[in-house]
Amino acid sequence: MCGIVAYVGDRTAYPILIKGLQRLEYRGYDSAGIALMNGKTNIYKCKGKVKDLEHLVKDQDISGSVGMGHTRWATHGEPSDRNAHPHQSMNGKFIVIHNGIIENYAHLKKELTNRGYSFNSDTDTEVLANLIENVYLEQKVSAELAVRLALTRVVGAYGLVISSPEEPGMLIAARKGSPLVIGVGDKEYFLASDATPIIEYTDQVIYLNDEEVAVISRQGLDLKNIYNDTKTPEIKTINLSIENIDKGEYEHYMLKEIHEQSNSITETFRGRIAMDESKIFLGGILDVMHKLIDAKRIVIVACGTSWHAALVGEYLFEEYARIPVEVEYASEFRYRNPIVDKDDLVIAISQSGETADTLAAVRLVKDSGATILGICNVAGSSLSRETHAGVYTHAGIEIGVASTKAFTSQITVLTMMAFLLGNKRQVLPAADYKALIHELIQVPDKIAEILKEEKNIEKIASIYKDVTNALYLGRGILFPVALEGALKLKEISYIHAEGYPAAEMKHGPIALIDESLPVVVLAVQDRSYEKMVSNIQEVKARKGKVIAIVSKGDKVVKKMADQVIEIPNCHEALSPLLSVIPLQILSYHIAVMRGCNVDQPRNLAKSVTVE
Ligand code: AGP
Ligand code: GLU
Repeated sequence: MCGIVAYVGDRTAYPILIKGLQRLEYRGYDSAGIALMNGKTNIYKCKGKVKDLEHLVKDQDISGSVGMGHTRWATHGEPSDRNAHPHQSMNGKFIVIHNGIIENYAHLKKELTNRGYSFNSDTDTEVLANLIENVYLEQKVSAELAVRLALTRVVGAYGLVISSPEEPGMLIAARKGSPLVIGVGDKEYFLASDATPIIEYTDQVIYLNDEEVAVISRQGLDLKNIYNDTKTPEIKTINLSIENIDKGEYEHYMLKEIHEQSNSITETFRGRIAMDESKIFLGGILDVMHKLIDAKRIVIVACGTSWHAALVGEYLFEEYARIPVEVEYASEFRYRNPIVDKDDLVIAISQSGETADTLAAVRLVKDSGATILGICNVAGSSLSRETHAGVYTHAGIEIGVASTKAFTSQITVLTMMAFLLGNKRQVLPAADYKALIHELIQVPDKIAEILKEEKNIEKIASIYKDVTNALYLGRGILFPVALEGALKLKEISYIHAEGYPAAEMKHGPIALIDESLPVVVLAVQDRSYEKMVSNIQEVKARKGKVIAIVSKGDKVVKKMADQVIEIPNCHEALSPLLSVIPLQILSYHIAVMRGCNVDQPRNLAKSVTVE
């Protein structure tokens, strides 16, 4: 995971690096470090957050107009001062920051140890720094060639920025698997894991492709792949503004992002629905529409919250487009020998578009002949470049590690796709299609109404903030919402929570129920309502506490539940979009009351670019 930032130009690098690291901190936050080049090289690094690094460099020499910074999410070696990046090679010829994993590091380390190398850290990154140095010294080649030659020996993933004190005005950047964006200014360049550290300086960017190596100095940029083929950099204009990455009036990004959802969903369908509400257009999949219409099966691959969105998609595609769907954890799928053929449609869902397992799943099916679509939030991300076609969610940048608005935008895209395919496959009558579209565009206003309930939900949070376990129950299209509610609570408040299909409760989890267990129940007016009422009875009969999400005006559940949260009435197909909002708010307030770091939960990182 890790965040990488670097600068070469005429400005002082330090403030650019620190601000960049703060923006990238969501990617990893167990240690931070910088290297500044100003004739000599100063490296400062420590365990902890970027603010600890700032504290460390107080009164130190922070001059230099070339530099690099790193915020770490440890994979090899515990978070500690000595494992923090940048790492220097044994003889000081190379300084390296790295995002990813060098999978054959043990083998390389042994080889280097035999050649007399010793190591100051437990990281795989230091092995790479020494490998490059070893090639440089033994083969007497340029720094750039040493990097390229060393990288041909590496198995694994990397986003790298490398400097050689012997060529002080130059940075070398390379990528495979982990993202790296280069911002192009006037005689200056910015490098970062995503565009957020760059946008106030330039909107001109180059996305490095796998196995590309860029040599960058004030004088310009040279691009090759590791095999020495010259590449032409493709400069793109990005559309991202500072306001998008500001917390504004909110205490946390997560809260801001929860509150943004009525807007972000509107952004997701903006320009994609006909004025008369009779049609949906999804420009990104137009070229492959005939394949989608004829698809025999849909396989959806994703991880975490995106996998929950995929489960909602399963209900939607089967119900409205009548296409059979299988939903797979990308991390499992990639290591099976899955049966996928040319009549299949594979959809990969990822907020970041950089999740290593999801990308690997996509690569696995590339040769199958299947049509591969991406649903992703980050324009220009690896997923968007590695699929045949796709739909951007347009939720806006999501910084809170716990995904909220990305989830509802993913579901919005899946909903639009399911309705559209149902119509094109002539299984969804035109009148129903139109009625569903009409319902969909009501969703943002209904979310705005739910957001007004925050105070009530905060009160409920204060009742349950000290629990140690929680159960979330839902049926049908709301079962994935139960999973998502439980995940939100787990990841930000560290309370153990389980999501279950309500009917499965009697097959085991019912044993957990006693007067101390809160059970969050999704009991809105839909085809499962009566069954949910019975499940609530079962919980109450065992003295469990019930927090129920109900449709406005509900009378039955209100009498049985300990607390209720009302949401506006809506069509069943759209109930995931509404019912997840109170669950996000509940988790948020419980986590805040427990004093947890909501935006940067322990052990987590926003985009999981390693296995
Ligand atoms: C969500 O709250 C998580 N932090 C996590 O499960 C996330 O959804 C998962 O890592 C997938 O990320 P992606 O959507 O960027 O691929
Ligand atoms: N493998 C490197 C380390 O442990 C980088 C980790 C990462 O990118 O998450 O330091």
